[in-house]
Parts: sequence; structure tokens; C-alpha cells
Amino acid sequence: MQVLVIHGPNLNMLGNREPEIYGASTLEDINFWLNEQAAKHGIELIIKQSNHEGKIVDYLQEYGVEVSGVIINPAAYTHYSIAIRDALSVLTVPIVEVHLSNIYAREEFRHNSVTAPVCKGQISGFGSLSYLLALEALIAILCKRKSVNE
Ligand code: DQA
Repeated sequence: MQVLVIHGPNLNMLGNREPEIYGASTLEDINFWLNEQAAKHGIELIIKQSNHEGKIVDYLQEYGVEVSGVIINPAAYTHYSIAIRDALSVLTVPIVEVHLSNIYAREEFRHNSVTAPVCKGQISGFGSLSYLLALEALIAILCKRKSVNE
């Protein structure tokens, strides 16, 4: 079973980027923890990061049809990218939106997510743990689906 993980713009800077908001963990740390947790469940992760909207759309089109689920932190695109929302809408697999920070406790322009309505759910505000919680949620959803189909 494969899960696609997409990190949006500026998340490659984690560790150095406003650590008081996003924490001290780097993207490599987060990817390592995700891979570790996924491996325990026999899941393979396809992990991509891009600073470009079109590239994220390309990843969703290329891998979104092959995988069993998607975890995405669209970063700033969360708040305005209809292109990413439309690319997510096409997918039939469960999608979990992730944010390190609590976007509802920050500036007003971050309160709205245009992508969350086309996701199964959103996890926001738990720092790097948000990603691990998203993976847990996805695994629970996928296991339930599997047992229903068995
Ligand atoms: C973010 C929140 C966004 O508002 C911001 O633009 C980001 C990161 C988060 O993970 O908390 O780049 O998605």
C-alpha cells in the first residue's frame, strides 16, 4: 500500500523557518518519522516537496491515481489555490490536510482553507506531530475500508 505525502512551499526551510511557529524539526526529520511509522504498518510513502503550485498539481495527477491515500500540507497555497483544490477534487482516495501551526489561531487570512473542503479532514496545530496524526488517521480509514471490503 502506498501513500502520497506532499509538502508545499517553504516547508523545505523547516528548522530555520520561524521556529517559534513551526518548531525546530527539519523536513528531513518529519519525513524520517513518517517513514518509520509507515513502515510499521507495511506502507510505502511517496514524499514530494515543491515551492511551485503547478508542480504540486503535477504530483497529484501523477501519483494520486496510484496511491491509497494522500497527506498534504499545501502551506500558503491552502489559502488561495483553486488549482490545487481542483486537482485534489479529482482524487477518489482519502486525503488528509495537515498544518504544523494552528491556522485558526493566526492571522485572519490563514483562517480559510480552500483545500480542506475537498479533503476527508484537516489536522492543524500539533507541530510535526500533525503529520504523524494525519498518517494514523489515514491508516485507520484505510484499514476500516479494507476490512469492510474483505
Ligand atoms: C502552514 C500554515 C500556512 O498558513 C503557511 O503559509 C505555511 C505553513 C502550516 O503548516 O502551519 O507555509 O501550512
